[in-house]
Amino acid sequence: MHGVHGELKVVDDLPGAFAQTAIDAFSSRSEELFYLALSGGSTARVCYERLAEDGAASVDWLSVNVYWGDERCVPADDPDSNQLLGRQALLERVGAANAVFPMSCEEGPDAYQLRLGEVGRLDVIHLGLGADGHTASLFPDSPALDADPGQLVALNTDPSGRNPHPRMTLTYSAISRARLVVFTVAGEDKRQVLTDLVGGADLPAGRVVADRVLWLVDRDAAPR
Ligand code: 6PG
Repeated sequence: MHGVHGELKVVDDLPGAFAQTAIDAFSSRSEELFYLALSGGSTARVCYERLAEDGAASVDWLSVNVYWGDERCVPADDPDSNQLLGRQALLERVGAANAVFPMSCEEGPDAYQLRLGEVGRLDVIHLGLGADGHTASLFPDSPALDADPGQLVALNTDPSGRNPHPRMTLTYSAISRARLVVFTVAGEDKRQVLTDLVGGADLPAGRVVADRVLWLVDRDAAPR
């Protein structure tokens, strides 16, 4: 299965569309608690800042459990840390969550696997797209692409060396347990890879499947 699975929507206001999608998912959640996995990167940052703002009236953050889809193996206060990004752009702004589960490379993937196993299904996993076709920390030609289906979390590195730091990442199998996967893709430097994916290229992001996969794409990144 290659290409892009799910629905692709070109939007004028990407952070706004992301925030609304997350708010709608929260409103229609199937249990009292809502399970949300965050990503890293510059697109994620503006999306979370917007969600904090737009969701203020409609999301009860005390009903939200926050996870991460991937992490860079750096200290938690390092500017490259995805945990730090999620805290600054979202958690510190909304002031509360029911529980927060950062990935810790020191603890290793097994601890996170257990935590995810307790949940069963996540409501929303947010993902980004790298210009090389990676998503989460699933890089082209990297070992985590071939993780066993029972493995939900893996340590990984980018064999090309372009994306720095060792990583921890959800596997395809973990991502496929999401009720909704939302990709956000912004900027002209993503247009080529998105064009390739829509054309059927076999790149990591194109292998993502879940109950529902929604690609939110801004006009600069949209394939012509
Ligand atoms: C990470 C990510 C990664 C990211 C994409 C897009 O930790 O780097 O989770 O998969 O989402 O690289 O990032 P940008 O929005 O910065 O292009």
